Amino acid sequence: MTLDLDPALDPALDLDVRSQFPQLVRNPGVAYLDSAATAQKPQAVLDAVTDYLTSENANAARGTYPWANRTTTRISDTRDQIRRFLDDPSPATSGVHFVSGTTEGLRTVALDWLPQVLRDGDEIIVPFADHNANVVPWLDAVELLQRQGTRVVVRALPYDSAHDYDAARLPVGPRTRLIAATHVHHVYGNDMNVHRLRAAAGPDIPICLDAAQSFGHLPISVRDLDVDFVVFSGHKAMALPGIGAVWARNRRGPAFTPAGWSGSPNTAGIVSLAAAMDWLSSVGLDRIATHAVSLATRLTTGLAGLPSYEVLGCRTSLTADSPVQRRQGIVTFRHRDISSNDLGFILASDNLLVRADGHCQAPEGEKTESVRVSVHAYNSANEIDRLLATLSALD
Ligand code: ALA
Repeated sequence: MTLDLDPALDPALDLDVRSQFPQLVRNPGVAYLDSAATAQKPQAVLDAVTDYLTSENANAARGTYPWANRTTTRISDTRDQIRRFLDDPSPATSGVHFVSGTTEGLRTVALDWLPQVLRDGDEIIVPFADHNANVVPWLDAVELLQRQGTRVVVRALPYDSAHDYDAARLPVGPRTRLIAATHVHHVYGNDMNVHRLRAAAGPDIPICLDAAQSFGHLPISVRDLDVDFVVFSGHKAMALPGIGAVWARNRRGPAFTPAGWSGSPNTAGIVSLAAAMDWLSSVGLDRIATHAVSLATRLTTGLAGLPSYEVLGCRTSLTADSPVQRRQGIVTFRHRDISSNDLGFILASDNLLVRADGHCQAPEGEKTESVRVSVHAYNSANEIDRLLATLSALD
């Protein structure tokens, strides 16, 4: 397949970092195209964890000896690193709480913070075509309150025809106490233009942002987005599984003080998260984001010439400065005749590793399964071309 975009002419199409990922080096023929599910780990992250566990492993906030003190310091340093990573404008008053990942983080905001805010007759706005992890916890909190006699109205966050949030139809009112939103959609790949929600919501309503698909993939500025919570998983950002965080601005409503923050922290996970942020910063989040958008563009451009495939979300990838819509490094599609599950197996047999199912999308999402391709810094145009060649043979 010949495409106009020549990798030799566009350095964004290959960041040349694959050699830093041992699992990819051990599997030279494999195109790992499932980074929205979890990302591969660079040697720097593996080294940081091994080094920590073989030189100064100790519990935090409990010891009088140097290993324990160093571990305590590493944890508070990592909190500060996260604040910088998110362009936090008020690091002295914000909070960073480690959790196991986005799902637990969103549940913690929903069950520990939201009930303090809600009174009988209040309203919250929920994105019913996003990931279940950003829908179910809010409904659980509402049900819990209902059982205690507090009735809360749940309103749906509206979408437009391109699956972006439709800020013009945002159902805000005087009783709205929270908007739950997503930064990058895990199926459609859209940057959901959250700043437009802030503009439509006005200055006072808290916004909780699911950043599972954006943290570590593109620069996030909470200063610009003006959100109140950012929740993310480390493993999608090249850290170990089992670590993530809730960043809380603590400006609109009560401070976020989750009940569960006790017990021994996931120290190795926190060390891996710090190393992952270092690695991502050294490559450059802007470069990584441009790279992912370039690969997604290459794929959507190729798919546009294959009539058997239906691409979900925007048909083409727009550029980073598009005021309309911007697809990140996620492209999801279906074949007219071949089930997505079968397509997933066919692609896997060609060493093209993708996700093929319903992607845990909440009830207002797609009714039919699909194939999702998601990229990160280690992917290349060559891998996208291999994928397109296989897809083209099935067209
Ligand atoms: N939430 C992850 C995904 O979208 C697992 O694949």
